[in-house]
Amino acid sequence: MPKSQPIAVVVLAAGKGTRMRSDFPKVLHKAAGRTLLSHVLHAAAGARPQRTVVIAGPDMSAVGAEARQVIPDAVIAIQEKRQGTAHAVGMAQDGLKGFEGTVLVLYGDVPLIRTETIRALAEAVNDESPLAVLGFRAANPTGYGRLIQNRSGRLIAIREELDTTVDERRIDLCNSGFIAVTAKFLWQLLPRIDNNNAKHEYYLTDLVGLTVAEGSQVALAECPEAEVHGVNTRAQLAQIESLLQARYRQSAMDNGATLIDPPSVFLSADTEIGKDVTIEPHVIIGPQVRIGDNVEIMAFSHLEGAKIADGVRIGPYARLRPGAEIGRNAHIGNFVEIKKATIGEGAKANHLTYIGDATVGARSNIGAGTITCNYDGYDKHLTEIGADVFVGSNTALVAPVKVGDASNIAAGSVITENVPEHALAIARGQQAVKPGWAKRYREMKKARKEKKGKA
Ligand code: UD1
Ligand code: CA
Repeated sequence: MPKSQPIAVVVLAAGKGTRMRSDFPKVLHKAAGRTLLSHVLHAAAGARPQRTVVIAGPDMSAVGAEARQVIPDAVIAIQEKRQGTAHAVGMAQDGLKGFEGTVLVLYGDVPLIRTETIRALAEAVNDESPLAVLGFRAANPTGYGRLIQNRSGRLIAIREELDTTVDERRIDLCNSGFIAVTAKFLWQLLPRIDNNNAKHEYYLTDLVGLTVAEGSQVALAECPEAEVHGVNTRAQLAQIESLLQARYRQSAMDNGATLIDPPSVFLSADTEIGKDVTIEPHVIIGPQVRIGDNVEIMAFSHLEGAKIADGVRIGPYARLRPGAEIGRNAHIGNFVEIKKATIGEGAKANHLTYIGDATVGARSNIGAGTITCNYDGYDKHLTEIGADVFVGSNTALVAPVKVGDASNIAAGSVITENVPEHALAIARGQQAVKPGWAKRYREMKKARKEKKGKA
């Protein structure tokens, strides 16, 4: 057999996840901005599978849609009734028709698995061992299937907790549930699995005993327990989140970012961070954020779907929403919200501003309190601000509207018409000044008060 066989991946995801107490399938819950299923599929994709089959339950069209988001040609197979892990894998037979190579079985609710581990498991399959099992040493083995070895350390069976003897229950080498098996062997042995066990389910783990009975060997690959944590409850989902965050923070720092207080920074699975980036405490970075080099993200900022070029300063207390594109060396300050807007190189919006559905040219200065009024209650409209524009504080730009290059807008303006380049636009009530009025007013009030006091 040549060294690297083609790989196909089968992801079991038919479980409803009753203990999540949710209206949504368990594998669609998210950690670090990505569904559990997507984490597994991304890890699997790294092993370059030729085919991917996802086993979903009935009424789980959203699971199929999510799978295709990650792997566009994934095959979705429906397991109408949960009858055990072997039965679930059987549902992949059509999708894997004609495939000759190594089939990897993964679980959709075990999101921390790494590509390297998946590869190592696949590579443990060879001529002598058509089946390989991924095991781990459990701190508390309760609930897991135990890996039973013979005297010479060969794997001879997997025993589910409910079927173990008292002695076997002490074994801490546990079954992750992930296996790699040659397609030929899988389809040959799967029909022989019965449901003669405590739960009356068809157990995939029975493949081990059957393989040994065939006179073949079962290979064992091992991984750290943390990689095979499953999610059954919201509390476990929170644990997964925290393990993923630790992983991403570490890799951001390894790649040259300074995190002043790593535990208070939340990243997403797809966050890209350049070199010499400083992230202050209490920053949340949602999905699809790309940060260039020499960027400073100050405390309490919230970013999602944003592209940030080199040399930019964000925050403190800034909010970048999807479609925010911040040009080189731009400054986005406190209480500034940017949505679906391009901010030009060196432009500044330093305080208390909303910029949505807009373009801002290079070097323009957006004064405090400027608002793009982009929504009329029905539709969104565009605000186009040129380069080198000065927008005075507390300006409302009523879209659709264009502001030409190098123009000035006076503070407090409500701009409803286009402003030509190099012009000054003032759109506010004229100031009236009444000399001495305030003095007369105060005297009149004071006199009345005194009169009342005497009466
Ligand atoms: C399984 C293993 C056990 C292992 C443990 C690790 C078997 C028989 N047992 O037990 O040895 O230690 O995982 O977590 O395989 N699923 C389906 N359809 C089904 C049944 C299951 O899609 O009919 C999916 C579930 O959604 C889940 C995965 O397969 O993602 C595992 O099923 P689960 O019932 O949780 O298996 P365990 O009893 O935990
Ligand atoms: Ca389980």
